[in-house]
Amino acid sequence: MKKIIVTCALPYANGSLHLGHILEHIQADIWVRYQRMIDNQVWFICADDAHGTPIMLKAKNIQLPPETLIKKIHKEHKTDFKNFNIIHDNYHSTHSSENKKTLEKIYNILKKKKYIKKKRTSQFFDIKEKMFLPDRFVIGTCPKCKTKNQYSDNCEICGSTYSCKEIINPKSTISNSIPILKNSTHYFFNLPIFSKMLKNWITSGTLNKNVSNKILEWFKIGLKKWNISRDAPYFGFKIPKTNKYFYVWLDATIGYISTFKNLCKKNKNINFNEFWNKNTKTKLYHFIGKDIVYFHSLFWIAILEGCKLRKPNKIFIHGHLTINKIKMSKSKKTHIKAKTWLKNFNSDSLRYYLASKLSHKLEDIDLNLIDFKKKINNDIVNKLINLAYRNLKFIHKLYNNKLSKTLDNNNLYATFVKKSKHILKYFNNCNFSKITKKIMKLTKKANYYIDQQKPWKLVKTSKNKNKVHEICTTGINLFKILMTLLKPILPKLSNKIEKLLNTNLTFKNINKPLLNHKIKNPKKLFNRIKNNQINNLLKNNKI
Ligand code: MSP
Ligand code: ZN
Repeated sequence: MKKIIVTCALPYANGSLHLGHILEHIQADIWVRYQRMIDNQVWFICADDAHGTPIMLKAKNIQLPPETLIKKIHKEHKTDFKNFNIIHDNYHSTHSSENKKTLEKIYNILKKKKYIKKKRTSQFFDIKEKMFLPDRFVIGTCPKCKTKNQYSDNCEICGSTYSCKEIINPKSTISNSIPILKNSTHYFFNLPIFSKMLKNWITSGTLNKNVSNKILEWFKIGLKKWNISRDAPYFGFKIPKTNKYFYVWLDATIGYISTFKNLCKKNKNINFNEFWNKNTKTKLYHFIGKDIVYFHSLFWIAILEGCKLRKPNKIFIHGHLTINKIKMSKSKKTHIKAKTWLKNFNSDSLRYYLASKLSHKLEDIDLNLIDFKKKINNDIVNKLINLAYRNLKFIHKLYNNKLSKTLDNNNLYATFVKKSKHILKYFNNCNFSKITKKIMKLTKKANYYIDQQKPWKLVKTSKNKNKVHEICTTGINLFKILMTLLKPILPKLSNKIEKLLNTNLTFKNINKPLLNHKIKNPKKLFNRIKNNQINNLLKNNKI
């Protein structure tokens, strides 16, 4: 049995969760459910990332203290996850006593080892608002391609990065005034000193090849020292014995450790040190989006090395969820909120659709609602649920809900068992699209078998009664295998099926057909997706 910590990136506490966030948690949740089904012990943790300038400004905007805002959002996030059947073992916050303590401890260690040093820098300052401006709050014209409205550190059009001194016509997006460059002393973490270790770590199988190759390009440019401090006003933790604050990204990653620490407080059977010691045998897996790879594969790893803590065994990185090919983003108002989705569709439908598109690749995943409707109705309703109903119907009507003593086709069942073993292998690497494809192929095969046997015809002659019983029992048992394989992806539906079939769907029992076994009355299992649901979603969402 492996002991595993699984994390998702900590969502910012400045707004509602959208389906892009949900994608990441669905991916991790499927993986976690699979690991538990193969008897590994998993602690699935996450938290709200509660600090930083955007949260401070949002609170100011709605005239609430930031503490009140993040409490409100925390509650909302927890409810949204639960409603998608994403059950974290702990969902904490980075604005917590554990995080403050862990952060200060780590900072002191890094400082003592001289990995953190002071340096003077110049930065944009908003005179009207009397505050230093983070890069994303300054826009201007790209010095390379001259496109307007680009952030002060990089251009989305030509892809070049530059220093804030180079941007043309800078403007503060907070006050619309022209910012000035002002000096300030900051604390810098010596990332370059870890270059060799990082290079080794990145190429040691912890990341997929396409990702590690990309990161190696950053080494060619050379790693830079990382500014881990921010000037007031800021919402975050104060750096001891200074008038500065810790930069949100430092306490955010440390939030993984402190969320686990908080879990250990709640569950005394978990030993914190067993999981975080440098030489631990336990595992740590992160799930993140492709936009935050730099933080996780460089800064985070160097910090762990710097204070002699364990490192992750693997980082799973997904592409972005797009809607009709445009990135789902709150700031660009192209998002569908998690809550809005659930008003119109059930959670399993999104889980299945995303699973059918998720692989271990970095490509973006497009949510196209017409395609979504087609996929759910074809795969789940027409193929999978149809296989169940067409057999359940007879077992209910003619055999008093009791399955036969033997199968009609043992060979077919054995083939399905063999193929399942092969399919299960794809879970480990998050290759879920392959899994759904292969399961659908089997579902087609099972339906084809029933088409060939024609129980509805056989049933007309009374001498065939036994044969029909065995055919439908075979059909239901093939369906049971398919639902067992789909259990990590479709928790809600598989739970219904467990009740209906009066059994637990487990990988161990895949090779054991249900025979001479009483099941429950058939009932509605899944609703077909209709056009008006899509229209309502778009109406509710106003996109
Ligand atoms: N707070 C940081 C993470 C700190 S982890 C120590 C952050 N927050 S976020 O709310 O912006 O994003 C949280 C996660 O959601 C990230 O992994 C990010 O990649 C992911 N996504 C945000 N928008 C997304 C899509 N449109 N599609 C898929 N994932 C997206 O970054
Ligand atoms: Zn440009």
